[in-house]
Amino acid sequence: MVHTIVTGPHPSHPGACIEKHYYNSYVNHNNPGNEQSTVSSGLLSDISKAIIGEYQAIYCYDILIQQTSNNKLKKQIFEIKNDEIRHFQTFSQIFTSLTNKQPIVQLTKKCPSNFKSGLVSAFIDEQETVDFYHEIARKTSNNYIKEQFQQAAFDEQNHAVWFLYFMNHTN
Ligand SMILES: [Fe+2]
Ligand SMILES: [Fe+2]
Repeated sequence: MVHTIVTGPHPSHPGACIEKHYYNSYVNHNNPGNEQSTVSSGLLSDISKAIIGEYQAIYCYDILIQQTSNNKLKKQIFEIKNDEIRHFQTFSQIFTSLTNKQPIVQLTKKCPSNFKSGLVSAFIDEQETVDFYHEIARKTSNNYIKEQFQQAAFDEQNHAVWFLYFMNHTN
């Protein structure tokens, strides 16, 4: 299902609030008068960290794809990379809708030097990201942000299982 972020304050008159639309302000869906004008800086820094993590993963998975000659693995890691691109785009869009700014992204760590250590690192990173995204989803009262991070956490859990499988089935 496609959700839309509607820019601007939540409408206050009855019936104007469309279900499955998410307003770009901190508003209780069922209580439009209860608005907060500020976005928590903790949430913004968590979203920034998530965006950088996705960016780093996309970069390292590209290298991982080059480090194996196994076409099945290449294809599967390519699909995982596409999920990370989708997450990156979604989180960047959320960041921009909250701040009116583009997120600043830069690589903060080096990718592992070989395929085997790359798989282990990817597995650990995916598992840690599952916890981190569930934590963000729990902390926010914004339903759209909550859903996006929950959905991404399920994807990362699936990625972790794939990387564990690759670790056990490659030499
Ligand atoms: Fe991701
Ligand atoms: Fe992932």
